[in-house]
Amino acid sequence: MKITITNNETEFDCIAAWRIISEILSNPGAVIGLSTGKTTKNIHLNISCIYKQFPFDVSQVTFFGVDEVTNVPRDYPGACYTMLKTELIDILGINDEHFIMPHTLSDNFERECRIFQEALKERRGIDLQMLGLGLNGHLGFNQPGTPFESETWVSEMDEALESRIRKETNTLPGKKLGGFTLGIKNLMHARKIILVAKGKDKAEIVEKMLQGPVTTDIPASILQLHPNCEFILDVDSASLL
Ligand code: GLP
Repeated sequence: MKITITNNETEFDCIAAWRIISEILSNPGAVIGLSTGKTTKNIHLNISCIYKQFPFDVSQVTFFGVDEVTNVPRDYPGACYTMLKTELIDILGINDEHFIMPHTLSDNFERECRIFQEALKERRGIDLQMLGLGLNGHLGFNQPGTPFESETWVSEMDEALESRIRKETNTLPGKKLGGFTLGIKNLMHARKIILVAKGKDKAEIVEKMLQGPVTTDIPASILQLHPNCEFILDVDSASLL
């Protein structure tokens, strides 16, 4: 387990961005999993900014998103697809063939899960998986209680998030929204994982993830057992270690 504690947010965003760029430079055909949210936004923007000033070869790299909300279109501002496109993918000029995202509208999500997983297998699996950390220890949309053996699936959304997304997308009650996500087993098969967490509100869960028992109650605690995982934290999120 490697833990990197940065002095401030600027250093945090910069170090994490360079980890992704280094992966691309040393392995031009890398398959890189991204996560969305407050924690990763500036990391993506940093990569985009460096790329604009000092372009590097991204023609062979494949990016994908670790999770996405189902049963809403993916072009609203809060969709993982849209966030990744605007923060990073479009700026680097990555085409659709090299950007794998789940379909959010489908009558058969079991099939969509298989297709997503197969697309990664065809590219020989994940070289680098970036992960954010939920306040309850979730990884992707794998909420507490998810078996460690889980493979790509659609989890149940928590009520607060579901109602926020319904509002944002004007989605009427009817179809339940879901959390399409790589399973924990898929994540653990990544050759390298970097978990990023920042801010005081993550301090308690960071402590549980790193110093508590490995338990499905805290999905991220499984990362203690990954042979090549780095945790990039800022001083605030690391304050209880
Ligand atoms: C969301 C996403 C995760 C993300 C996490 C952290 O629920 N499904 O993929 O890593 O929350 O988000 P944030 O960085 O905004 O705290």
